[in-house]
Amino acid sequence: MTDKSTMDDFFSVKSTDETIIKNQDLIINKQSFLDILFDLEKKSDITLLRLKINEIKNIITNISEDSLAILNVSKNGDTIRISGEYLLGELKQIEESMTLERAKYYVTRLKKGITEVKTSKINDINLHRWKEYEDIITDSIWFMGKRDRSGEHIGSYWGNFIPQIPNQLLQRYTKKGEWVLDPFLGSGTTLIECKRLGRNGIGIELNATILERSKETVKNEKNPHNVLTETVEGDSTSIDYRKELEKIGLKSVQFLIMHPPYWDIISFSDDKRDLSNAKSKEGFLRSFGEIVDKTYPLLNKGRYFAVVIGDKYSAGEWIPLGFNVMNEVLKRKYMLKSIIVKNFDETKGKRQQKELWRYRALVGGFYIFKHEYIFLFKKL
Ligand SMILES: C[S@@+](CC[C@H](N)C(=O)[O-])C[C@H]1O[C@@H](n2cnc3c(N)ncnc32)[C@H](O)[C@@H]1O
Repeated sequence: MTDKSTMDDFFSVKSTDETIIKNQDLIINKQSFLDILFDLEKKSDITLLRLKINEIKNIITNISEDSLAILNVSKNGDTIRISGEYLLGELKQIEESMTLERAKYYVTRLKKGITEVKTSKINDINLHRWKEYEDIITDSIWFMGKRDRSGEHIGSYWGNFIPQIPNQLLQRYTKKGEWVLDPFLGSGTTLIECKRLGRNGIGIELNATILERSKETVKNEKNPHNVLTETVEGDSTSIDYRKELEKIGLKSVQFLIMHPPYWDIISFSDDKRDLSNAKSKEGFLRSFGEIVDKTYPLLNKGRYFAVVIGDKYSAGEWIPLGFNVMNEVLKRKYMLKSIIVKNFDETKGKRQQKELWRYRALVGGFYIFKHEYIFLFKKL
């Protein structure tokens, strides 16, 4: 089997079959598959090992019959769900290893990925199968596509964030069953995502009318993981957080997410306690700081706090509200973990006046806002 053309023929899996399988989850007979991997670990010849890998690839891509009974799932058999992309990637890495030792190292890694779950203290990501989490962003620039409008997510609340933001953050910084606190609940996006991902959540909102609506939408969202979502009407700068938590038998939360008004860009109400009605930037930052102080003791040590905020212009001057807010948090015992820059869609108004804004930018010597920030902090 050392002849090149013969080897190539033998190891060829049609790319179209690979493409189909890559986009699927496979149900594999756990024991049969593990037996094969144990056997591979004992091989003393890399060519034989590669042949076996190729046989597996041909079976999972439906080229050959399931002679190894990998996909042959008996009714009471122990099965595992595995992403096609992940499995094919692992098999490819084994197959392309230059030495027997390296190939066996990858076999052992694949075996661990199937038999063991290794997670960190802050999320449920199985680090043995980290390649499967393709949807989780790890870069500091987020180019988000269209807003997720599925289920109860409504896009109509002016000033809400796109659901993909809490979705990403909850997956990265919480485990199933943990508690999330959002002191600027708005239309309830965070709590809807909590329900989808199996996290419990508490949201506080000052505006009673908005809260009534969000309570309804959150209630209407399906609850497949049976989690609790609580809402509180009140002012996040002065509310008795301990008391609210005690009402549901809680002492602490495991993740904090804040999406405050970007000072006065959008006025959310006439209430003077509303942060969007702060008379000055200093006043806005003071109120925000009060919320950071009040929520600090509730968050478990070593856990994360995310702030979503953008900058603003005032009389032709760029006001770096995002960095001002970041500095406010860093006056407390938090460590900065990441600054994410996220694109945002043009607002309807700006889209209609695109040309005008471009002209204004050219005349005024400024840039049109296209981004906002997600600051990530860790409690020391
Ligand atoms: C940017 S929006 C949050 C939107 C939310 N993330 C969503 O997806 O719908 C800010 C919210 O904070 C609320 N708010 C402003 N000041 C507040 C305060 N002092 N206490 C509680 N909520 C406040 C506003 O009514 C508004 O709904």
